[in-house]
Amino acid sequence: SFGEEAYRPQIHYTGADTWINDPNGLVYADGLYHLFFQNNPYGTTHANMSWGHAVSSDLIHWHDRPVAILCDDEEQIFSGSVVVDEGNTSGFGEPGSSPLVAIYTSAYAEDSRFHGLQAQSLAYSLDGGETWAKFEGNPVLDRGSREFRDPKVFRYSGAAGSYWVMVAVEAVERKAVLYRSDDLRNWSHLSDFEAAGKVGLIWECPDLFPLAVDGNPEHVKWVLVINLHREDGEGGSAGIYFLGDFDGMTFTSTGVGASADDDGAPAAEYGWLDFGRDYYATVSFNNVPDGRRILVGWMNNWDYARSLPTSPWRGSMALPREAALRTRAGRLVLEQRVVPGLEATGAARSLGLLDVPEGVHRLPVECGAEPCLVEATFDAGSAEEFGLVLLQPGEQSGEEGTRLCYDVERGELVLDRRASGHAELHPLFPSVEGAPVELVGNRLRLEIYVDAGSVEVFAQGGLVTFAEQVFPGSASTGASVYAVGGTAQLIGLTLTPLKPAPV
Ligand code: FRU
Repeated sequence: SFGEEAYRPQIHYTGADTWINDPNGLVYADGLYHLFFQNNPYGTTHANMSWGHAVSSDLIHWHDRPVAILCDDEEQIFSGSVVVDEGNTSGFGEPGSSPLVAIYTSAYAEDSRFHGLQAQSLAYSLDGGETWAKFEGNPVLDRGSREFRDPKVFRYSGAAGSYWVMVAVEAVERKAVLYRSDDLRNWSHLSDFEAAGKVGLIWECPDLFPLAVDGNPEHVKWVLVINLHREDGEGGSAGIYFLGDFDGMTFTSTGVGASADDDGAPAAEYGWLDFGRDYYATVSFNNVPDGRRILVGWMNNWDYARSLPTSPWRGSMALPREAALRTRAGRLVLEQRVVPGLEATGAARSLGLLDVPEGVHRLPVECGAEPCLVEATFDAGSAEEFGLVLLQPGEQSGEEGTRLCYDVERGELVLDRRASGHAELHPLFPSVEGAPVELVGNRLRLEIYVDAGSVEVFAQGGLVTFAEQVFPGSASTGASVYAVGGTAQLIGLTLTPLKPAPV
């Protein structure tokens, strides 16, 4: 029930007893992944924004560390990033050392020296991220704006040279602004990026990174991630991405879904990072070896984040995902997969080939009492619609359940959480979200991570994903398959219980 530990995630990062939102300062350094995050160290509301901190050697098991950068009367510490300052370009460390440098947004109080402005500031750590000191020359980049935030800084090396690049947003103008620096202290403007048509109400938490197409380092495309709030009533917080080229100065969008051989027309200006309601403020780690690009999103939505009925914590991170660009059927697609490392506990349960005639059919599996991974492959057969219902109560199929439906004619996968349990927590919580998904050889392949309080769906090997919170009744551990208008086939289903990885 609410107010207790029933919905505390078992395989996702949460604060022990405080509010968390955006992941910040994601960086790999000296064998450890650092997760900093927006945190209210004093409570479960969005206030007193500071940077909390946790570390992990595998992205699965997290260890809480002391609050890294604390707010004060003058400023809240809004979102930003951390770099490993190799060669001490900033001068914060000893000559030749590699300090960690955080670039964050100072959200200044109205009655402070900076009168409600948002500007970019630095803090540094000389002990591997444990303790941080603010730079006395803050802020280092001030545009006189009240909506200039969320700097992502990374090291750029290319034809134009080698330097630091910052991408941040003018949130209300829906503009990404790019700057460069040699020492992290002095910044000069490079360029601005705007969508062709205005997209979203405000932009937040941008990221910009290269990805090798099909793993070929000779063929690199750049991904510009923008997190945004949609128009009222359209679903709230979500992430989109642009694909294109970056020459060290300007990001040029070349379209998403474009044919790989350059002469096909781009299919769309941008793509959705995730089709669920709870994948926001997603940004990637700096400094991960081997060109791997690992993303973390806040598994929440500003529409109702403040109303989550969990206690004494509020907010959690989505599972870390590795992103890749691949050519599939002549098109460039972004794939996301959960990083490896979640361990099975106990034996997996497998069901073989099963006809799914018209109707709802209960499966002989238990799912949701413990975290688990459900892998299912369907053949559409003669069905017009088919799918899975998870987290159903008791013996009977009943009304409650989290539904995943595939509509063959529309080529659409739909996640419906209107009857997922306690959906009444906020008027904007009940939702039905759809995504275009093509069957491959008439088949749909699903991987679904089920944890206390959430489901994360990866369709067709991570081409389309949905992250959503759900709050089912405690006895809702049933699962069914169903078909409409014909007979589908469940080619196979494997349910693997997953070992909790508590903080
Ligand atoms: C995104 C965001 C950021 C801001 C932070 C404040 O969720 O609004 O733009 O830096 O949260 O907590």
